[in-house]
Amino acid sequence: MKQTDSLAVTVIAKQSNGAGNVLLTLASEDDQPLPPFTPGAHIDVEIPGCGKRQYSLCSTAANHYQICVRLDARSTGGSRWLHQQLAAGDGLQISSPRNHFPLPQAPRTLLFAAGIGLTPLLVMAEALAARQADFTLHLYLKRADELAFCERLATLGPHAVIHYSSESDSLRQRIPDDLKQPHNSALIYCGPAGFMDHLQQLAQQQGWKLDQLHSERFRPSDAPRLVADSAFEIEIASSGARFAVSADQSIAEVLEDAGIAIELSCEQGMCGACITGVLAGDPDHRDDVLSQHERAANDCIVLCCSRAHSPLLVLDL
Ligand code: FES
Repeated sequence: MKQTDSLAVTVIAKQSNGAGNVLLTLASEDDQPLPPFTPGAHIDVEIPGCGKRQYSLCSTAANHYQICVRLDARSTGGSRWLHQQLAAGDGLQISSPRNHFPLPQAPRTLLFAAGIGLTPLLVMAEALAARQADFTLHLYLKRADELAFCERLATLGPHAVIHYSSESDSLRQRIPDDLKQPHNSALIYCGPAGFMDHLQQLAQQQGWKLDQLHSERFRPSDAPRLVADSAFEIEIASSGARFAVSADQSIAEVLEDAGIAIELSCEQGMCGACITGVLAGDPDHRDDVLSQHERAANDCIVLCCSRAHSPLLVLDL
């Protein structure tokens, strides 16, 4: 398996940041500058015994990274380890930043976050504020004690609107006027799956088009597959070699078995590490990372989870 750039970092600070969240500040172990990143980027964090987990970067300073992690009740070990085992001064292995959630250009940008889904959108909001763009950040929380990044949100002034469901101001209880005005806008959203699904449905009801909607998930969607998987073939464009992908294999598994190096991280269609070009054939997109625009173009595929509608896919490998 081809590894993405792995970086050794030290946890230089571990702080509470709103109820249930911990803010980790990471600096390079060898005092070398960390690679730059753009708003919306995430890193993989190696969790002992659990594998890699993806967290959005929310740093403001160039010489360190910050991630904010919620202790997830559905944790499979990642957030629990970061909250309960990791201490300031410990080392961590992380990946270089990867960004499949870039800030789109639009005359007006609406950012909708719930809970810790704020982390990528806060960095986007700050970038928009720095270029005096037209934007509003709507943040949805259950209660006031969950509020993280208080000072950074305060500097956004009236661009940041905070809604508390304890004050009957959840998205289900009240639709903000901003959401009723889709014209010439981009809608970017991040948060728990239920929030994102509800927001997408609401936005479409209000007239937003799919290509105006941008989101990122770090947990695979729970939507059940209604169609059984079937077999197909893949061809490696550079060599012409063909391989069969059976109904119970992923493309990534077949490539790895054949000794072909590909980059893998989440292996659940969320992080974008394994996105590969498609030169011919019709991909059956099963991921949560490609945009509607990328899906429609049909010129790339997420190898760890997606399949093919056509008998053959030619991969740009
Ligand atoms: S490895 Fe993360 S999307 Fe495929």
